[in-house]
Amino acid sequence: MSSRTILQFEGKIGFPDLQSLRRHSTALTTSRPSDGAFALYTAVQANKAALLPSHVPYTSGVVVPFALEAAVCALSVREPGPCMPGVLTPALALPYPSLHPSSPPTKILIVNGAASSVGSTTTQIAAAAGITVFAISSARNFELAKQSGASQVFDRHDPSLVETIVSVVRATGLEFVGVFDAISTPENYAQDLEILRALGGESHLACTHPPPTEGVPVGVKTGMIFAVNDVVAPVFRDFVTPALESGLLKCLPAPTVVGKGLEFINEALKRSKAEVSGTKLVVEV
Ligand SMILES: NC(=O)c1ccc[n+]([C@@H]2O[C@H](COP(=O)([O-])OP(=O)(O)OC[C@H]3O[C@@H](n4cnc5c(N)ncnc54)[C@H](OP(=O)(O)O)[C@@H]3O)[C@@H](O)[C@H]2O)c1
Repeated sequence: MSSRTILQFEGKIGFPDLQSLRRHSTALTTSRPSDGAFALYTAVQANKAALLPSHVPYTSGVVVPFALEAAVCALSVREPGPCMPGVLTPALALPYPSLHPSSPPTKILIVNGAASSVGSTTTQIAAAAGITVFAISSARNFELAKQSGASQVFDRHDPSLVETIVSVVRATGLEFVGVFDAISTPENYAQDLEILRALGGESHLACTHPPPTEGVPVGVKTGMIFAVNDVVAPVFRDFVTPALESGLLKCLPAPTVVGKGLEFINEALKRSKAEVSGTKLVVEV
């Protein structure tokens, strides 16, 4: 493997945040210590690695791979598959990102939690697949959502958020795909379901945690992503390196390097638990 390879699971470079690390190291599914993190060298599946262009520092590149896998799982799975007992993955069946997204777009997706790592990457990947994205985040992260490729941004604290976003989506005349909720809390679900109810029709609610079981409007399919999914392989193979080279794919949210060495893990954990907004915590090892 080249020394300028993005590692899917952070071993050589650092990690986005400890909670993510533990959940998303491939050791989660393989149970092999060699696939775990907290090591200088970590085994990586060849179909989940891509060359990191020389102008991109490791500490930036590390924010991409895991969120990318989550994003592609949210957008491009074609048939619902197992996620956890009783919960299926969503199947939005949207196209893969392209180096030359077709225009004009015909579909529109709402990303709730667009300032998060998974939300901003899903925004980027959807935009590169030619989908119009409306992003919901707090106002302090509007710039991040726009940099990620959102066409319009909406303040999650705005009391008239639902009415506003529903009327603007309707006004586009585009085919409404559904909502991807990167945060997936009960409060967010209440918002999502109101939006989906008002927009009506066949659509999706794709979640990062188990989806709501009550109040889901008829015609809305729900699912939870499982971000260890080979659906991402063509994106690593064909898209990641040239897209990073051209700037189409950006390393967002920008990293905050907590320190160098395993001794900084506790500090990173503490900061992660306090609050992380519009950034990704990285520890170099
Ligand atoms: N199922 C899976 O396979 C899978 C995969 C990946 C991640 N996840 C889960 O997905 C979630 C997101 O992970 P992440 O690493 O992307 O998170 P993250 O980057 O740590 O998210 C932090 C951001 O979330 C935003 N936020 C917090 N509460 C919000 C709310 N109620 N509505 C909208 N935005 C909100 C904040 O933005 P503002 O400051 O702008 O509010 C903040 O910037 C986590 O719960 C993680 O466990 C699941």
